[in-house]
Amino acid sequence: MTVLASSLDPTSPELAANREAMLTKLAELDAEHAKALAGGGPKYVERHRKRGKLLARERVELLLDPDTPFLELSPLAAWGSDYTVGASLVTGIGVVEGVECLITANDPTVRGGASNPWSLKKALRANDIALANRLPVINLVESGGADLPSQKEIFIPGGAIFRDLTRLSAAGIPTVAVVFGNSTAGGAYVPGMSDHVIMVKERAKVFLGGPPLVKMATGEESDDESLGGAEMHARVSGLADYFAVDERDALRQARRVVARLNHRKAYGDPGPAQPPKYAADELLGIVPGDLRTPFDPREVIARIVDASDFDEFKPLYGTSLATGWAALHGYPVGVLANAQGVLFSEESQKAAQFIQLANQRDIPLLFLHNTTGYMVGSQYEQGGIIKHGAMMINAVSNSRVPHLSVLMGASYGAGHYGMCGRAYDPRFLFAWPSAKSAVMGPQQLAGVLSIVARQSAAAKGQPYDEEGDAALRAMVEQQIESESLPMFLSGRLYDDGVIDPRDTRTVLGMCLSAIHTAPYEGARGGFGVFRM
Ligand code: COA
Repeated sequence: MTVLASSLDPTSPELAANREAMLTKLAELDAEHAKALAGGGPKYVERHRKRGKLLARERVELLLDPDTPFLELSPLAAWGSDYTVGASLVTGIGVVEGVECLITANDPTVRGGASNPWSLKKALRANDIALANRLPVINLVESGGADLPSQKEIFIPGGAIFRDLTRLSAAGIPTVAVVFGNSTAGGAYVPGMSDHVIMVKERAKVFLGGPPLVKMATGEESDDESLGGAEMHARVSGLADYFAVDERDALRQARRVVARLNHRKAYGDPGPAQPPKYAADELLGIVPGDLRTPFDPREVIARIVDASDFDEFKPLYGTSLATGWAALHGYPVGVLANAQGVLFSEESQKAAQFIQLANQRDIPLLFLHNTTGYMVGSQYEQGGIIKHGAMMINAVSNSRVPHLSVLMGASYGAGHYGMCGRAYDPRFLFAWPSAKSAVMGPQQLAGVLSIVARQSAAAKGQPYDEEGDAALRAMVEQQIESESLPMFLSGRLYDDGVIDPRDTRTVLGMCLSAIHTAPYEGARGGFGVFRM
């Protein structure tokens, strides 16, 4: 074993200050998570309860095996938009009858559970996760369908929801719909496209057109029950496979359906793993409040991997990127962690080699981000930084082992790409509250804009407004800063959630377990042309 030594001094004032800053950010994060939990607010929650219905998260809880965790995904979806935080949908991974499943639940207390553009993005992301990891999908349905005022944003792309359901089914990944209420018009295709359908008596409403629309279209007088009630679908149309007498019965039946799926994981449980040698609590004090101050990511690795055991690869070469082998909850991982912020040619080549090795050995990769990007300047351009950065991006793009990304600090510029940012399809990507991500840092971006504006004025022979420049710089800096923050990025679904650093090992362990439901094989070749 190669146990990492820690030089962290838990009594140092820097650590205490970092910890304070992180706790402040976590308190802000908690307040935003609370908004998602509150759903449509007390008025709608109370009305929902008075109707004798369970809330979305209560439905999820009753579906799961008792005392098992639920890894909720994208709880901050729609943050910073006009829509309620959480986007009227709950998604996450949990265990039902011993089977890890991808679960979604409409939140009917938020605009009748209608889907807005962020709900759609969140639902599609959930489907992607299910497909990549071969997780059965359970949709707990009660939704007013498309959020009508935003229909132009969702109607056309929204068709992918039903396409995904049938593609999951075609791939042999089970899909289950439990209908608790409205599931009409387009929404009717959720049960319509699912492998297994359960409907709740006198509650489920599944029809292409409700009574008013039918009256308009054909003149026929009808009612909800005869058009799309659970009784009718269970006895007459055959769309419902199971008739539930109430919500709890529906969840019980859903558990029985999962118990009979015979869904098998590709890999067995790796068994018990040794915890890290250092306290997870110390993760709060590692990232400095000011991201320009570097920190040693080995202090993070030591607090998340099994037994703090880490065998570093090329430790003396390309030292601003730490690479090495470890295990996390018993699963082998290759770790790439930014050590000094900037990526140089050596780091890029080392990363490309390391990623190829992980592919040869079928080892998943964990990217721990704290990078300001690839090095600029004539010396580095002449040294081939573009082609070396391209090698790393090539390796990340064509790698076929599962990737996990955690944004601990900075994740700027092409460094975000090389470290497997969102566009590079990591199986899961989480951010710490200390993370920031943008094309470059706010000061740099404002400075670049100012230089460009100055040159443009000079080219036109106009005087440059220095006072206006200062104001513009301040405004741009503030805008970019706010757009770089994790809540903003999480609101746009650019990650799968902002997590407490102390939960990192648990979250990654759950992800690795989910990942090992599907077989994977590293790329033995199949990379693009590596420019030498
Ligand atoms: N788009 C936008 N807002 C919607 C909506 C939708 N599809 N469905 C409901 N809402 C809003 C309502 O306007 C209401 O807003 P308000 O409280 O500010 O007035 C709020 O959500 C709650 O709706 P309400 O009708 O009071 O709730 P309910 O639980 O009694 O009924 C539905 C829920 C979904 C059955 C009912 O609202 C409905 O039939 N909606 C339209 C469904 C539809 O035709 N969708 C198009 C499908 S593609």
